[in-house]
Amino acid sequence: MQESVTITDNRTGQSVEIPIVDGGVSATEWSKLLPGLWFYDPGFSATAECESAITYIDGDAGILRYRGYPIEQLAERSTYLEVAYLLLHGELPTDAQLAGWVDEITHHTYIHENMRKRFLEGFHYDAHPMGMLVSAVGALSTFYPEAKHIDDDDVRHKQIVRLIAKMPTLAAAAHRFSVGLPFVYPDNSLSFAENFLSMMWKTAEPRFQADPALARAIDLLFILHADHEQNCSTTAMRVVGSSHADPYSACAAAVAALYGPRHGGANEAVLRMLTAIGTIDAVPDFVRSVKEGHGRLQGFGHRVYKNYDPRAKIIRKAAYDVFEVTGKNPLLDIALKLEEVALADEYFIARRLYPNVDFYSGLIYQAMGFPLETFPVLFAIPRTAGWLSHWAEMLEQQTKIARPRQLYTGQAERDYVPIERRS
Ligand code: ACO
Repeated sequence: MQESVTITDNRTGQSVEIPIVDGGVSATEWSKLLPGLWFYDPGFSATAECESAITYIDGDAGILRYRGYPIEQLAERSTYLEVAYLLLHGELPTDAQLAGWVDEITHHTYIHENMRKRFLEGFHYDAHPMGMLVSAVGALSTFYPEAKHIDDDDVRHKQIVRLIAKMPTLAAAAHRFSVGLPFVYPDNSLSFAENFLSMMWKTAEPRFQADPALARAIDLLFILHADHEQNCSTTAMRVVGSSHADPYSACAAAVAALYGPRHGGANEAVLRMLTAIGTIDAVPDFVRSVKEGHGRLQGFGHRVYKNYDPRAKIIRKAAYDVFEVTGKNPLLDIALKLEEVALADEYFIARRLYPNVDFYSGLIYQAMGFPLETFPVLFAIPRTAGWLSHWAEMLEQQTKIARPRQLYTGQAERDYVPIERRS
């Protein structure tokens, strides 16, 4: 027997029975019974905005899968570019498909000289790299005006390749500009992660070769951040994309959403918190003050995960590989103690608060020398694959333009008052 819910309008006594499909009920069916009555759901906490076959999360069990593959297996055995292919196409690539995909991405990493010399160099000398990235991604639409032909499969594919390939170049360029270093051109002989590190850190040496453990750590972090279903920035991408704007404009909106401290900026907050705690001995007092309502334990808790975030587990383990090369980040011991104290505390147990992806990622970035301002930029590079996968999926589904309703709480009709008669 199919599961269903029945809703009754107590004003009229009329009912409608709605089947439960894939864990949801159709709002269209509800609206047939209740036309003109809107579902009030701030923050979309109880709303499924779309159907999607890309990423599965079970927040209670701490499960994350891309296209059915557990994140743990992808983290151990895949690469970011292979994962990007998987997210976009739904299947892992064959040898030939992967080679073709990597080749395509590698040969689209350059940005137009005007973008670098005139556009990026026009920013104020201390511009935040994320602010530069938002603008630069939007500006790409003026360099590739054909991008607006979103119904053409070849055009769509070309822009997907360009965005994934150029994002590290733009991110590194934004960082170099903000610290007064010259731009480094992409090096096609390097892997995706190595090339990014070269564009970030190269100085006078003829060729920059990143430490393999660090390049692997960056690639791993890119895998873990590649998608997370309908988060704030992906929703921004879908909402803007639903108006049939070109993908650069939609992606600029997604980067802007990620810029916010509630979304892409939490790992920075973790580092500031650990620095403020200062010593292991200060941890119990800090936890006590959080319980008394003085701020939050940054990097703990999640809207969806009510269990250990599976990405945090993987990052915690990877941190040790990075520290072997860079030396241990002194904040690690404070983080480990904080986790131990919090996970044994009734307050955090009762509220099901566990470390999330941001709890350990900042420690790795900091140990590798990334300034705090680049943390959200490091998030935007891999999430581009997720944004574009959702954008392409939405266009295939012929979705309607995103246009929610509101509950109006303002004034009733009233007459205009001339300014001399206003008190
Ligand atoms: N520290 C202390 N208490 C917390 C924390 C925390 N980090 N997170 C939630 N709580 C408490 C709340 O005070 C509340 O307690 P109450 O019931 O006594 O009022 C209860 O747990 C539920 O909290 P909500 O805010 O309702 O949970 P919500 O799902 O809306 O918030 C969020 C999730 C925003 C992530 C929250 O846990 C938080 O602020 N965490 C710290 C910031 C952070 O790490 N953000 C990164 C998220 S991951 C990402 O975006 C990539």
